[in-house]
Amino acid sequence: MEAVNNETNPGAPDPQSAWWPLALSRELVPGRPLARRLHGLPLVLFRDAAGRAAALHDRCPHRHAPLSAGRVCAGELQCPYHGWRFDAAGRCTAVPGLASHRPGQTPLLAAPATQEVHGLVWVCRGTPVAGHGPVAPSVTEGVDSFFMTERVRCGVAEAAENFLDGFHTHFVHAGWIRRDARRQTVQATVRRLPDGIEARYGNEGLQSGVISRWLEGSRSESMGRFRWPGVAEIEYRGARGLNLLITAWLTPEDDGMLRVHARVATRRGWLPAAVKRAALRRLFGVILRQDKAILEQASANAAVFAVRGALPPELHSPLDLLGPSIRGMLDGRWPEASVERECTVQL
Ligand code: FES
Ligand SMILES: [Fe+2]
Repeated sequence: MEAVNNETNPGAPDPQSAWWPLALSRELVPGRPLARRLHGLPLVLFRDAAGRAAALHDRCPHRHAPLSAGRVCAGELQCPYHGWRFDAAGRCTAVPGLASHRPGQTPLLAAPATQEVHGLVWVCRGTPVAGHGPVAPSVTEGVDSFFMTERVRCGVAEAAENFLDGFHTHFVHAGWIRRDARRQTVQATVRRLPDGIEARYGNEGLQSGVISRWLEGSRSESMGRFRWPGVAEIEYRGARGLNLLITAWLTPEDDGMLRVHARVATRRGWLPAAVKRAALRRLFGVILRQDKAILEQASANAAVFAVRGALPPELHSPLDLLGPSIRGMLDGRWPEASVERECTVQL
């Protein structure tokens, strides 16, 4: 990637060495294991005795039972089969019935690096790459925010492109975000970021759908950006600064299955955060369900028709502003696959 320090990061980073969010912090309740998957690998999350988030491979080394089906006792995981216990480093600390058991120092279980930041629990399966920590939202100060989560049957590229593509909103979200009959002439600028690609839309007024009209007093510019390894973000700005920022972390649980953690942030104002949250949760719940439906239909269709690999160039319209770059980045063709340009579009 363009601005990545090649001394610490030769070549394209491996997504296996990236930090991926697997759960909201509040989902990881002390005393309860949480089953998750990352790139097809079952993991169990739990909190140790000090409340720190930990992750282990979700397979007891004794006879392979899933540890996520067990319990957390005093910050250690207890297997549901014969009750062996494991600490956050994967060391076996107790074998019930074996009075002579001495806890060993050698981990019997892999314990991927785990950390908790930005309201999420993150895991890195490989060796963390310097300069590629958990991707933060672009704005963290002066906002009210809340999370929405969803699982969607599709890949990272499909979901990111959908989230950042304005030209489906007239149809999939007709009336909610935009209307086909009420388009605006907008100047779009696509440029590379140090870790991704961004489209910036200038001279766009309020959108024709109800969400923009209810939520925004004015609109001066908006941005849609993708950041490696799997973050899609839209940002609307008006005369008074930030109107709306939605950051969606797209975590690949399996091939063709995503867990989405979306943070919805608005500028802090006179309206209580809880009131805004209740209203926005309903609104964006509608949008999320509409996107999930079309993404899952398209993804299932692609599988039935065995569509594989990069799409031929003629299938990218000039309106596909970010999709080809996102796919290029995820395929490791970066920065040569990124396309910087300016154009006028009817959005
Ligand atoms: S399978 Fe876990 S203790 Fe036996
Ligand atoms: Fe959408």
